[in-house]
Amino acid sequence: MQTKPKPAGFFTPIEELTEHELLYRLLISLQNLPGSTELNEEEIIKLPSEVYEYWRNSDHGLAHSKQVLARALIILRSCPNLLRLCYMRCLDPIEITALITWASILHDFARFTQYKTLPIHQLVGSELARHAFIEEVEDHVSKNLAEMIIRHDYCCEFVDREQLPTLFIKNPLAEMFRLADKTSLSPVDEITRYNNTGKRLGKAKFFDPDFPMESRLQFNGRYEGWDYLNHFLLFFAIQPKDWFFGETRDLYREWQEKCEGGKSKACAKILEFAAAEGLDGDQIYSLVNVLDSFFKKFNLPNYVG
Ligand SMILES: [Fe+2]
Ligand SMILES: [Fe+2]
Repeated sequence: MQTKPKPAGFFTPIEELTEHELLYRLLISLQNLPGSTELNEEEIIKLPSEVYEYWRNSDHGLAHSKQVLARALIILRSCPNLLRLCYMRCLDPIEITALITWASILHDFARFTQYKTLPIHQLVGSELARHAFIEEVEDHVSKNLAEMIIRHDYCCEFVDREQLPTLFIKNPLAEMFRLADKTSLSPVDEITRYNNTGKRLGKAKFFDPDFPMESRLQFNGRYEGWDYLNHFLLFFAIQPKDWFFGETRDLYREWQEKCEGGKSKACAKILEFAAAEGLDGDQIYSLVNVLDSFFKKFNLPNYVG
């Protein structure tokens, strides 16, 4: 007789998690969402292919989750004061490891889904996380997991039109997780990941010279009608001041300045992508002009050099 597959538990290490177990866990979280007396049929039908997409994807799928987790473990070791604050929030080391594991798995999962009720992937991921382990872990642990995911894509004040959310002050694990997500690879590899994402989605132009500079630099309607270049600008927009704690600020500064050539090398890489995309001299000139104007307008270091 065939036995039913058991869902992966909260403490299952990422390397032992199977595709089937993740699917089972997501079904549980959907079942537990408030107001869902039964699973939405459309969601059940789509879920296996969404899990498969996540599993094989290299820019925001399982490979990215593993990179974020590895980086988060390094960050935890480098932030003894923040770790102490996590202990004061009644989390023990095993729970902290499990939390960063599941935050790594679930934070971008919704990028592979089409849930209509919650249009933003960080909200969907956070809802799934909040309900995935009900009655298996204490409520404050589930709440922590949801908090780690809900604002993981916050960039900075002029992009998000909002000061650094107080969530990161109250929950240092959420700040460390966001840092791990933003710095899981070196700057040059991170910008390459953005470029690969744009290619995979295939919806936008690499560079649209007709995108009016004013709307470009207002970051209106986040993602709507953007070319790849505007997504790249987000990467440069984040600065050490966009982290609340000294330990996370210092780690971000070190990463953006020194890690494998830092953001300067990432900026040079954009020009390589532009050449590979077949942009002519005039287009490259206006692309550099966008970068220059952006760095000047927001008083950022000029990575074009
Ligand atoms: Fe994300
Ligand atoms: Fe991510």
